[in-house]
Amino acid sequence: MRQPVRIAPSILSADFARLGEEVRAMDAAGADLIHIDVMDGHYVPNLSLGPAVVRALRPATRLPFDVHLMCAPVDGLVPVFVEAGADIVTVHPEAGPHIHRTVQLIRSLGRQAGVALNPGTPVAVLDQLIGDVDLILVMSVNPGFGGQAFIPSQVDKIRAVRRRIDESGRAIALEVDGGITAETGALCVAAGADILVAGTASFAGGPDAYSCNIARLRGAA
Ligand code: DX5
Ligand code: ZN
Repeated sequence: MRQPVRIAPSILSADFARLGEEVRAMDAAGADLIHIDVMDGHYVPNLSLGPAVVRALRPATRLPFDVHLMCAPVDGLVPVFVEAGADIVTVHPEAGPHIHRTVQLIRSLGRQAGVALNPGTPVAVLDQLIGDVDLILVMSVNPGFGGQAFIPSQVDKIRAVRRRIDESGRAIALEVDGGITAETGALCVAAGADILVAGTASFAGGPDAYSCNIARLRGAA
């Protein structure tokens, strides 16, 4: 079940001194979701932002908050980010001993649960999870930093995940994150992705360019 392609700007590339305005500008520019990258300096070698920032941004938009937790351990943080305003919570199977429990926890809080596959993580990790997730995130860079180059081998993985989703018959979103431009985004959509996360490509050129940036990404799709 293919859903219409949605664009999710990652605020990791926004101007952190003006985050509220940046989120409002992306909403006005036609974004479908706001992607929020949470990095803990431990699971990934970078620190980004915490729940207080998410809570402060919540009144800036009615768009869903797509919170990508690159944190280990992660279970204790899930309720905290839900309370702060997350609509979708995506976690990495490597970030805790019991990924299935984490997915159950997210859904028990009434939010959509996503599972993220790093470039080196095999699709087989979905075997026992596909019946319980709402979103699968294929990482097309290794997590931790914005502005990295797209890893082309992940296009085949998107294709494989698309097959798995279609076989499942469930309405699971297929998101891709890392190095997404109009060009790489088009490859990912052709392979079956239906949410494009883009940091650098969304925020390039400042607020005057946002509508054009979103339109280009959508046009690629
Ligand atoms: C990487 C993050 C991405 C990143 C995307 O760990 O999950 O969301 O910010 O940034 P770009 O689009 O610049 O690769
Ligand atoms: Zn992300």
